[in-house]
Amino acid sequence: MDPVDNPYQPSAGVRPRELAGRGRELSAMDVLIGRSERGFVSQSLILTGLRGVGKTVLLNEFARRARERGWIVAQIEGPSDFEHADGALRAKLARGLHSSLREALGRWKKSDLLTRAAGALKSFSLSVDPTGTWTIGIDVAVATGRADTGQVELDLPELAIDLGTAALSRGVGVLVCVDEMQQLSRTDLAAVCSACHEAGQREVPFYVAGAGLPNLPGVLADAKSYAERLFEYSRLGPLLPIEAAQALRVPAEAQGVQWRRNALDLAVAESGGYPFFLQTVGRHTWDAAVGPTYISLDDARVGAALAAQQLDRGFFQSRWDRATPYQRRYLTAMAVDGEGPSSTSTVAHRLDRTLGALGPVRAELIARGLIYSPEHGQIAFTVPGMAGFIERVEP
Ligand SMILES: Nc1ncnc2c1ncn2[C@@H]1O[C@H](COP(=O)(O)OP(=O)(O)OP(=O)(O)O)[C@@H](O)[C@H]1O
Ligand SMILES: [Mg+2]
Repeated sequence: MDPVDNPYQPSAGVRPRELAGRGRELSAMDVLIGRSERGFVSQSLILTGLRGVGKTVLLNEFARRARERGWIVAQIEGPSDFEHADGALRAKLARGLHSSLREALGRWKKSDLLTRAAGALKSFSLSVDPTGTWTIGIDVAVATGRADTGQVELDLPELAIDLGTAALSRGVGVLVCVDEMQQLSRTDLAAVCSACHEAGQREVPFYVAGAGLPNLPGVLADAKSYAERLFEYSRLGPLLPIEAAQALRVPAEAQGVQWRRNALDLAVAESGGYPFFLQTVGRHTWDAAVGPTYISLDDARVGAALAAQQLDRGFFQSRWDRATPYQRRYLTAMAVDGEGPSSTSTVAHRLDRTLGALGPVRAELIARGLIYSPEHGQIAFTVPGMAGFIERVEP
């Protein structure tokens, strides 16, 4: 069928035509917004899951909903392994809050609280933005003595209180969305926790919606012992078969195309319910289908085979290529356990090395985002299906 009409969009962070199976998370956000607007305090929300499971898409949707309610919203991403982790949060927040606050300054009636919040953002930004790019259009004096100690763990809570208080006076709140949150430094994570903690105690509506790999709750707990009480964690897994089927069926139906039952079952099974894989199978199946009104089992067979080839060449291969030969040996030793997790001592045993000798290679693979530690002494792939790929390239 015509690829121009193809409704499937395998990508990163691109909203799918049908956002299937995430009702619980979406209503948690709606409840947070609704409660906040009625003066109640909630826990901030954290989404965790493997690569391609749909974290960024959900976070974007959270931001959209909060913005629609007139909230002050910033969207930032933790530093990649090429960026400096130190100080990343302050620089990114300065940028991220800038446009949202400018917009509020334009929209809202001038008030002392708003001026104070803008002044606090300005002084918070000063040290990372000496030229003042991210304060352009915020025509207030720097608030001396607010958010300007240079220590993010002291400054962020002050900024959060000032922004949240200004938002509260307008009946809205502040939402900071942090993608790839596990990449923030420990200091930055501690600052985020302190800000949420302080805001909660003062009943000021400042919330964080975070997303990251499954090790994020552990990383947060390391940064602040009370973190697990600040956040409501939601682990995103693959979609249930019925949800995965819906993610494929609905976008096709919107274009007058029906999936045959057996074709749908095959595509769902091949994707394992993983959103990125679903979009990839859907895309190839559509392009391969004879059409024009339905998708047959044969179409889905061809689509699934093409999708698997493309995933091997792109999604998996790109990660494999980024690893050094020594790192690949480590990954191959892990792949024996399938989807895992693997015990680090078992992997060491397989490689005939001591645990300590493998510490550096393990740390490098974690820093590159290829593996993560679900709990002490364990290690797992961040990408679903990686073990199967390794079996295919290193039989
Ligand atoms: N609930 C869903 N239903 C259907 N498709 C989805 C759903 N969630 C995400 N997708 C699709 O899956 C793909 C991956 O989504 P997304 O980029 O949000 O994943 P992610 O978890 O942020 O991955 P990463 O860890 O690599 O950043 C996108 O193409 C998106 O359109
Ligand atoms: Mg993402």
